[in-house]
Amino acid sequence: MTTHIPREADWDQAPGLLEGAMDLELTAQQCNLRYWLQAVPQGTLRGRPDGHDPALKVGEHMKKGPFFDALTQEYSFRALAEEKATRVLSFLVANAPDNDTMEFYSTQLLDECRHSMIFRNHLLSLGIPEHRLVQAVDEFASPYRETVLVPLEDRCLEVMRDNRDFIGGVVMMTIILEGALAPAAELSERKWRPINPAAAEIDKGAGIDEIRHLTVGADVGRRHLLAHPEDKDRVVEMIREGMNMWDELPTHQMVYDREVRFQEGLTQYADLVGDYEIWPGRRLLDTTPQERQDTADQWSDDMKEKRLKYMGLEEALV
Ligand SMILES: [Fe+2]
Ligand SMILES: [Fe+2]
Repeated sequence: MTTHIPREADWDQAPGLLEGAMDLELTAQQCNLRYWLQAVPQGTLRGRPDGHDPALKVGEHMKKGPFFDALTQEYSFRALAEEKATRVLSFLVANAPDNDTMEFYSTQLLDECRHSMIFRNHLLSLGIPEHRLVQAVDEFASPYRETVLVPLEDRCLEVMRDNRDFIGGVVMMTIILEGALAPAAELSERKWRPINPAAAEIDKGAGIDEIRHLTVGADVGRRHLLAHPEDKDRVVEMIREGMNMWDELPTHQMVYDREVRFQEGLTQYADLVGDYEIWPGRRLLDTTPQERQDTADQWSDDMKEKRLKYMGLEEALV
């Protein structure tokens, strides 16, 4: 008997994160626990317990110098972000109004927990000894742990734990947190592809999960607001607040610093990258830190706009 793997979760057939998150429509009714058991452990993850093909080895150029700095900072930050996401998602599971959303958010919780583990464990492949792993993650992720992650976590806890606001939490995750971070993950997959193919696979796998999280989250929000139009003003206000918060956090500086280190690596190891194109018609070697960051920001704006319109929340854009 063969297991049916849906196209959007199939390693070889799934669309890219941007395309999938923009164009696909998935619901919690479809993406329940039964769907996940077949699509993810037996589909996306099959043969990739560490998020990538075990045959892909990390090159020596990744174990010190600018590429090491750029990737350890990025993956440590993301490991902590995913850990915090896992913990706050437990409140969406607790407050889910029906079995489908309860099952879906249970699977998302496990997905984020797995992402955290995979990003953290990739540091072992970069040469961090196991007994120092937790401490190293904290060190590499500082100072942005306190200035970026803690304020976002506090806001999530207020909405999801203290106010037990299920739909507020769904919109917070879909628009403010994942929506803003997903394009950075797409950029990561594209830029690491010729330099550290294991990391590119890790990002690709996380991106496949993210398509599901973003599209189902948008659908849960959309259905709720159709049934409860009285909640709309409150949710619009919450999104505006969240977007303002995002503008005030030092995330741009954080990403820019990493891109500058990455650029130094590009100069040092130009022969590894060759004519590889990060997007059609643009060689990675010809890009600048600012250009890569601006492109990811543009993707983020496009995705946010499309998803807000889908949920009937376009007022939050002005
Ligand atoms: Fe994640
Ligand atoms: Fe996610």
